[in-house]
Amino acid sequence: MAPIIPFFVLVVLSQFLLIHSAEDEGNRLGVDCPSFPCGKLGDLAFPFTEGGRPDCGLFVVNGCNSTSRGVQVQLEHGGRWYEVDKISQGDTLTIYDKILAEQLQQRDCQSLNNLSLPNLPYVSFKIVPNVTLCKCRTSSNISLPKETELRHTPCDKYNIYYHRPKPPPSGDTDQDDRLSSLCPCPTIQLPLSEPPPDNDNLFDLLTPIVSVKVYISGLCLACHRRGGRCLARNQNFYCGEGISEDEQIWREARTR
Ligand SMILES: *[C@@H]1O[C@H](CO)[C@@H](O)[C@H](O)[C@H]1NC(C)=O
Ligand SMILES: *[C@@H]1O[C@H](CO)[C@@H](O)[C@H](O)[C@H]1NC(C)=O
Ligand SMILES: *[C@@H]1O[C@H](CO)[C@@H](O)[C@H](O)[C@H]1NC(C)=O
Ligand SMILES: *[C@@H]1O[C@H](CO)[C@@H](O)[C@H](O)[C@H]1NC(C)=O
Repeated sequence: MAPIIPFFVLVVLSQFLLIHSAEDEGNRLGVDCPSFPCGKLGDLAFPFTEGGRPDCGLFVVNGCNSTSRGVQVQLEHGGRWYEVDKISQGDTLTIYDKILAEQLQQRDCQSLNNLSLPNLPYVSFKIVPNVTLCKCRTSSNISLPKETELRHTPCDKYNIYYHRPKPPPSGDTDQDDRLSSLCPCPTIQLPLSEPPPDNDNLFDLLTPIVSVKVYISGLCLACHRRGGRCLARNQNFYCGEGISEDEQIWREARTR
């Protein structure tokens, strides 16, 4: 037998539900992605978002409240987590690359390779500053044109050629471009210590503290500026117009 619920209780309950759904609606329609405090990094906002709010940005950060572990950032869904050193002006991110750190510490130049920063249609990353290395197999028996400025470090099965960076302000990237076109082997570009060391040692030249300039696509930024949410999905992005994807689907279904 169904319990008998007094009429006034039903009225109160249904009003409560109404208020609640109105609030939910407001939240979904409003742009409620406020900036959030992140320890020594200060307040962060789009394109960064907290772990619990994947609907608010492109790069998830975790550990803002942790005193022991550092803050970590994930630059693409399912990608590697990097320790964050610094975020400045919202467009330059300084991260720590553990793998590179280990290679440098062990003086392991054989396994040096390009960093595995994601390559995505809605965002690109530029390592600033970086140095170009020309990595040739010893067995390939190639010879680079004699250039007095060119340094080289022998590794077990490779020779690595590079230019000693010019000190700022000249900060000349021409010599790296020249090396890229000259190099008959694969080239790699790795973060350059700042300020550059005053010796030629490859392991002093490179640093695991990587400053990356973050370039977000114009369409994604335009979406964000008009109050939408530029969010990553399947290696691409979509613009939720200030409402959740579920809500959008629901609305489309209703207008049919
Ligand atoms: C960090 O702490 C603040 C204030 O205590 C809290 O509002 C926020 O949700 C916390 N963030 C995380 C990611 O736990
Ligand atoms: C290295 O620096 C040059 C000059 O700023 C830049 O064009 C290039 O994209 C950088 N390479 C990487 C891998 O970020
Ligand atoms: C490498 O090049 C030098 C000079 O061009 C040549 O004498 C030598 O035989 C070459 N070695 C191999 C393994 O091809
Ligand atoms: C490393 O990155 C540079 C710049 O993006 C590219 O030109 C080069 O081909 C890459 N090297 C390898 C071995 O993938």
